[in-house]
Amino acid sequence: MGWWTDQVVPRVADKALNTKEIPPLRDRVCQGLSGDVVEVGFGSGLNIAHYPPAVRSVSAVEPSNVAWRIAQPRVQTNRAQVVRAGLDGQRLALPTATFDAALSTFTMCTIPDLDAALKEILRVLKPGGVLHFVEHGRSPDASVARWQDRLQPIQGRVAGGCHLNRPIAEHLSGSGLELEDLETGRTILSGGVAARAGYRRDFANFLERWRTRCTSCGIDYTRVMTDMPLDAALRGYLLKRAGTGARRGADR
Ligand SMILES: C[S@@+](CC[C@H](N)C(=O)[O-])C[C@H]1O[C@@H](n2cnc3c(N)ncnc32)[C@H](O)[C@@H]1O
Repeated sequence: MGWWTDQVVPRVADKALNTKEIPPLRDRVCQGLSGDVVEVGFGSGLNIAHYPPAVRSVSAVEPSNVAWRIAQPRVQTNRAQVVRAGLDGQRLALPTATFDAALSTFTMCTIPDLDAALKEILRVLKPGGVLHFVEHGRSPDASVARWQDRLQPIQGRVAGGCHLNRPIAEHLSGSGLELEDLETGRTILSGGVAARAGYRRDFANFLERWRTRCTSCGIDYTRVMTDMPLDAALRGYLLKRAGTGARRGADR
């Protein structure tokens, strides 16, 4: 790992993945976990507070020593036993058919060979075991996906190998795991300078399409298409573009 990926990315991830929108996702993805769990891409242990009481042990797979160090206060105050069980989700030094569940949050975007990691997860799960995950991935909207492709070279470098544009569901469907439940949603990427500078034209077209579709069914389009609150700049932009129809939605 280079200095940036080694020293900076884990610290940034610890903050960026702990903003107010994220803990509710962690709550949901951890719901129903029980017994012995392998967590691939454990990071700084931000899921720990969300493990249900039925989780007995967690085998943490995490390459970053910095992330593991940041996790220590969380690890030590946790009720379930948490041990570092490996460094690489692509090659788990863990016995076959051992775990009741696997957990992965915002990591399937980053693991270089996701198919290899999914194969390993399948191998170490007991028959009937489950993988719970939450991810960002390639947008079904072609104009957004185009921007994801354009921004990917920057994202990969600054975010420790993270892929903005990875088709996670496709990887899952070829993995041998049976997809029981997949919920998808759209999140407006509004935080980055690059996004603001380059995104607007395609994004405006995208909004118009949604607005037309939603208005025709009597639905407030700003609420339909976002999972997160709009930030101030984007909200202003929406209001300017779309007039009072958007204002009613955005002010709710
Ligand atoms: C964006 S962070 C997410 C961390 C944590 N899961 C969370 O939700 O806060 C991605 C994590 O994947 C880890 N990672 C990268 N390559 C990996 C690999 N081959 N096997 C397991 N974890 C990996 C990184 O070190 C990092 O901690």
